[in-house]
Amino acid sequence: MKMLEVQSSVRPSGSISRQLSYEFVQAWQKYHPHNDWKIRDVGINPPPHPTALWTQANYTPPEMRSPEMITALADSEVLIEELLWADRLLLGVPMYNFSVPSTLKAYIDNIVRINRTFTFEPTTYRFTGLATGKKALIITPSAGNFVVGTQLGTMNFCDTYLRSLLNFIGIEDITVVPIPDQFISTPIRVAQRVRIGKYPDKSSFQPCYSPLSNASAITYLLGQRLHSAAADNLNDRRRDFKLSAAMRLLYCVFSCGS
Ligand SMILES: Cc1cc2nc3c(=O)[nH]c(=O)nc-3n(C[C@H](O)[C@H](O)[C@H](O)COP(=O)(O)O)c2cc1C
Repeated sequence: MKMLEVQSSVRPSGSISRQLSYEFVQAWQKYHPHNDWKIRDVGINPPPHPTALWTQANYTPPEMRSPEMITALADSEVLIEELLWADRLLLGVPMYNFSVPSTLKAYIDNIVRINRTFTFEPTTYRFTGLATGKKALIITPSAGNFVVGTQLGTMNFCDTYLRSLLNFIGIEDITVVPIPDQFISTPIRVAQRVRIGKYPDKSSFQPCYSPLSNASAITYLLGQRLHSAAADNLNDRRRDFKLSAAMRLLYCVFSCGS
């Protein structure tokens, strides 16, 4: 199996999405030492934005492209080949202003291309994704709580957008692990996770009191557990034990199936 990890936090250190992705990749490599893994770090090395020439090249049949057009699309081609190579996508995506980081948007603009990752049939007005046969796991921290299903969930244009986007290019099996409430101290965050699904909304910044769907609640709890285990100041063995239980579950979700 081949995994592509895409990181988009602008923080090279202290980043929750990077840390939890790292833990996940460690578990992945432990169980499958011979699996391939690549990382594309768009947070640290953002891809170029599309230009006028890029756009013209994109809509020009490959055999008719000028050398300049080929050069304009070169980065995009590398990113698309890398995406198509992978069976599994691991995306580290912090919420930035209710959406994805702009560096990740630049990446998306490079990989979503007609006749490369989707097709369009004008007579039937049908779009078809070409990046099929993959699963995606999205680890998405945020300062507040914008988890879908909670009070402020309608302001989440981050993982909801990514779901639609990945669906569009043919990736339908998507697991989202939200890691919300980074502005809330760890003891309060840990205490409130017990309440998920049991309490009605109380006030605007008391997050997660509204019931989540079962699926969201499971990945939400998993994210909370991962985060608290990773942040715990335990000795290495206890920390590893706590982390590995959550990781194993996540790992099963991600690695099973075709
Ligand atoms: C430019 C910017 C915009 C942000 N916008 C939001 C936001 O809209 N909602 C939110 O809950 N957190 C927001 N945050 C906070 C981050 O989502 C949060 O700190 C997260 O943990 C960052 O991910 P990282 O730890 O992997 O770097 C923002 C952070 C930055 C730098």
